[in-house]
Amino acid sequence: MNTLSPDEQLKLIERARQVAANAYVPHSHFRVGAAVLGERGTYAGANVENASFGLGHCAERSALSAAVAAGDRKIRAIAVACIDADTASAPDELMPCGACRQWILELAKDAVILIARPDGSSESVTISDLLPKPFRLIDKRERDS
Ligand code: THU
Repeated sequence: MNTLSPDEQLKLIERARQVAANAYVPHSHFRVGAAVLGERGTYAGANVENASFGLGHCAERSALSAAVAAGDRKIRAIAVACIDADTASAPDELMPCGACRQWILELAKDAVILIARPDGSSESVTISDLLPKPFRLIDKRERDS
């Protein structure tokens, strides 16, 4: 598992919060920002919705796609900020969705996952906390050898 300094954590969370402000959410009005820390830099993503609802994109997958496109595949951390979450009535609104968990497993399995809370604090979790019994595709050549 990777480790992050307190300063790196704060900066990554701040980036996630900032980028959430750019989310395109005319349907849910629920803005999410994600910031991925790789070896070479930080990559940000926000959720982008569409009138054809199933075509919407989550913030985490946008940020992970940006890291992959930049060729930065050693991901140390990912911060997620759901800035419109109503944590008083729905604390789970801060958590990554199932599809994003599966993406994190594949692309950033050792990443520190920082869940930003509205009060400025954060919760640090791992992908095994979020996805304890994941689906994994075993390479058939490995299995048969
Ligand atoms: N959303 C994300 O961006 N990430 C998640 O992990 C959970 C959900 C977005 C999708 C949609 O635009 C809005 O939040 C409400 O579900």
